[in-house]
Amino acid sequence: MDKIIVHGGRPLSGFVKISGSKNSALPILAATLLTREQCIIHSVPDLSDIHYMLQILSHLGAQVERASGTVTIQADTVQTTAPYEIVRKMRASVCVLGPLLGRHKEARVSLPGGCVIGDRPIDLHLKGFRALNAACRVEAGDVKVFADELRGSTMNLEGRQGPTVLGTDNVLMAATLAEGTTVIEGAAAEPEVVDLANFLIKMGAKIEGAGTRRITIEGVKELHGAEHAVIPDRIEAGTFLVAAALAGTEVTLRRVNAEHLNAVLNALADAGCKLSIQKDTITIRGGGTARPLQLITEPYPGFPTDMQAQMCALLSRANGESLVTETVFPQRFMHVSELKRMGAEIALDGATARITGVAQLSGAPVMASDLRASAALVLAGLVAEGMTEVNRVYHIDRGYEMIDEKLAGLGAEIERVKQSA
Ligand code: EPU
Repeated sequence: MDKIIVHGGRPLSGFVKISGSKNSALPILAATLLTREQCIIHSVPDLSDIHYMLQILSHLGAQVERASGTVTIQADTVQTTAPYEIVRKMRASVCVLGPLLGRHKEARVSLPGGCVIGDRPIDLHLKGFRALNAACRVEAGDVKVFADELRGSTMNLEGRQGPTVLGTDNVLMAATLAEGTTVIEGAAAEPEVVDLANFLIKMGAKIEGAGTRRITIEGVKELHGAEHAVIPDRIEAGTFLVAAALAGTEVTLRRVNAEHLNAVLNALADAGCKLSIQKDTITIRGGGTARPLQLITEPYPGFPTDMQAQMCALLSRANGESLVTETVFPQRFMHVSELKRMGAEIALDGATARITGVAQLSGAPVMASDLRASAALVLAGLVAEGMTEVNRVYHIDRGYEMIDEKLAGLGAEIERVKQSA
């Protein structure tokens, strides 16, 4: 298992190019199953999660070709069962259910288990499929969905923790080929859902309201091939903004959509960073001591849960006490104990972290536990005194394209140590 070694204290400056969005690319790649025609997807990041999704598509029978950031997929004929060996590696595999159900009126996919960030049920996905007239059953650890005919209807997909991103994606994809009109109330409004909807529209789907809490889909008989470029990854961008807030003199992010980052940019401005936004670039001046913040994670356009861990790293060195409350995944605080090993003062009270800023963090061997927690540890390492060794970095490789090389390009002293398993 590789590890990343960071020597703290090097100032960051210069330019970094943001990759295509992981969480957009995953459902968009799955959506190519909706047509037998060829689809071409650009700006697909080179990540292990994307690799798993392409493996699943190949297993289902699609022809997949990849040349740098462009993936060409033709799912001329597909089968409808995705087995545990492939699916278990990534929870987002569940988003092949919707397109398979839409196209073949049946799908069988191994049920995703919980993961370190929480329970992660799919009841809302199934609620949506049932509203489209499908039957859903769990058999031998697989979820099986099937219908004689998919029929559009009105449903509400809002759960106790708010809307569901992949649940909205799944039902949206199935509904494109359902008979009649589907209305998803309580839909997720994340930019990744909008990106998927835009791709589906290019494929011939009739969709209105993506990006709002109410999406209307008029079913069509079939979809055709399309070409699409995935939006920039707002969470990767946010992570580099926090890196610069911690250690940056002046850092410019290229190929970024600032509109998708409003909540993060507002938080960083409140913390004292100087930001300048141009067409598709953001320049940030950081490096000073951050002001403390009170943050609450919320569905888009609120502050994203996927940036919570990184902000905890920033606020660990703030000038006072911060409160960070997680409402989307209330147990998503695995980074806290590791940050504390680096000298952070954080007390957890339910889903709220009370962070008392310290003047200096100290490097330590730490363990990555999930994607964003791992990123937070690398960020903390950039400003910690001495050496931080982040173990189990395969978590980071699931969602950050060349994070070590990109940070090194900005001046960080960071290296990856390859280790065989
Ligand atoms: N939920 C339910 N029932 C469901 C589905 C979700 O109760 O059927 C709950 C979840 O337990 C959670 C909340 O609803 O409390 C929101 O979960 P959501 O379904 O929106 O999460 P997701 O779609 O599985 C995506 C991202 C996550 C991101 C969340 C929230 C992908 C591949 N994953 O997950 O990304 O945190 O939305 O924005 O798009 C990451 O990139 O690190 C990551 C975890």
